[in-house]
Amino acid sequence: MMTLINLDNYRINIRGSTGALVVGKPGSGKTVLVSYMMLKLMSLGAFPLIADTKRSDFFSLGRILDMPDSKNAQVAATPGQVAKMLRVLTNLMNQRYEHHQEHWGWDWVDYNLRPIVLVFDEFSATLSEADKATANEITGYLKQLIFKARQMGGIYLLLASQRLTADVLDRNISTEFSTRIGMQNLDRISLNLAFPGCNLDEVPIVENIPGHGLIYDDHFCTIIPQPFIAPDMSEVEVPVVVKKLVEKFENNSFSQESYWPW
Ligand SMILES: Nc1ncnc2c1ncn2[C@@H]1O[C@H](COP(=O)(O)OP(=O)(O)OP(=O)(O)O)[C@@H](O)[C@H]1O
Ligand SMILES: [Mg+2]
Repeated sequence: MMTLINLDNYRINIRGSTGALVVGKPGSGKTVLVSYMMLKLMSLGAFPLIADTKRSDFFSLGRILDMPDSKNAQVAATPGQVAKMLRVLTNLMNQRYEHHQEHWGWDWVDYNLRPIVLVFDEFSATLSEADKATANEITGYLKQLIFKARQMGGIYLLLASQRLTADVLDRNISTEFSTRIGMQNLDRISLNLAFPGCNLDEVPIVENIPGHGLIYDDHFCTIIPQPFIAPDMSEVEVPVVVKKLVEKFENNSFSQESYWPW
């Protein structure tokens, strides 16, 4: 199974990774970058799940992903739907652990489990829109996924947020993301949360152009985030590519999972 994707001059390995956190002010290029990474992951066979309560670009993919006979939705558009989607996903992760215990040290790649990519666009907006109980439910499931999914979950989180403060995402959750990306220049609070432990004066300044940003990955040899430029997706018809990839992997050679919920 291939588990590597390219991003500018960098390679990101989803095996052994929890996911990527993408932070940046409006218009900095978060959605474009996340859509690029989602398509790359889908081209490795990843099954997509989408949380987009702003009902913007990602929400429109529901027309392709959610069939009338689907058991569970792949696209969630309200905080309540997001909580339900995360509950279904957390259950799947737990089933994967229960059903795959025979080999010491094996992970989801060894068991040939289908990877899943969870796209969460505008995380902070979703939380502020949710009532308290739903917001707690969402962060509770997210915690379980980020702390537990790495070995057997095969679940890769792509979480984009405009703001990053400790009330939006606990520091102990934000630092669990294997890859952390800041689009354009971030304020000092977001920088501190996205790239903890590094001297802010050493953080490179990037151009204030959409698509330009800083990237940190657990596999880099430095804690200082590095400048990168995200691919320009303006010529890519994302829904068309999504449809093709869905069709390509409709019949696939991943392990059959009797408890698969979609
Ligand atoms: N990598 C890129 N290369 C070239 N242009 C880009 C790139 N990324 C973004 N842009 C341009 O910037 C615009 C805004 O990007 P995008 O919608 O991804 O920002 P965002 O951070 O998600 O904003 P919002 O917070 O409003 O959702 C895009 O419509 C596109 O024109
Ligand atoms: Mg956006």
